[in-house]
Amino acid sequence: MDFRRGRQHIREQAKGKKVLNLFSYTCGIGVAAALGGAKQVLNVDFATHALSIGQANAELNGLSDSQFQTLQDDAMLVLRQFSGLGIKGKAKRRQYTKRSARLFDIVVLDPPRRAKSPFGAVDTVNDYQSLFKPALMCTKTGGQMLVTNNVASVNLDTWVESLRRCALKAGREIESVEVLEPDVDFPSMDGQHPLKMAWLSV
Ligand SMILES: C[S@@+](CC[C@H](N)C(=O)[O-])C[C@H]1O[C@@H](n2cnc3c(N)ncnc32)[C@H](O)[C@@H]1O
Repeated sequence: MDFRRGRQHIREQAKGKKVLNLFSYTCGIGVAAALGGAKQVLNVDFATHALSIGQANAELNGLSDSQFQTLQDDAMLVLRQFSGLGIKGKAKRRQYTKRSARLFDIVVLDPPRRAKSPFGAVDTVNDYQSLFKPALMCTKTGGQMLVTNNVASVNLDTWVESLRRCALKAGREIESVEVLEPDVDFPSMDGQHPLKMAWLSV
């Protein structure tokens, strides 16, 4: 429910766009983007069951296979490939599907708090940048990103500032930041929602 605002926002913004939905779970964001007229939505998650629910959700909403796709794989691997950063070190010895670099108009990054992967760890408290940098590199210049951080102890301003610094280091700039608040029927008692959502123009 707290992410409903994100789904509404992307539905309003996605018309004609190519969208990459990372850590898609049951593809709620991806379905919303497609219903908003996205040209193509690629939903990435390693959970087969979650993706099959997403696929059923897409069918219930009358979406076509060319508009809505799922990719069952490690999001860290896919991120490194699409961004062109490539696979390095020990991870190179593993078996994985090869993919070329790809750019999207909109990239959605809604990661779990922590996860381990042979292709890079997810740590949204101490190292959001390791995720954000490749996600930014998969986003066209002039494109948009919907990024989230679901950890209550992470301060919104500190987190947004870390995104700005990371973008500059990567040779890109965040042109604008729109903070999306969860809807009023999902209030936060202390006014600081655990789920932080930012819509970035990059
Ligand atoms: C916070 S949920 C995402 C919620 C989703 N964005 C939504 O709109 O409901 C986290 C998801 O990340 C997936 N996940 C965690 N680590 C992953 C990884 N390394 N590669 C792919 N998916 C991963 C889990 O399977 C889970 O579906």
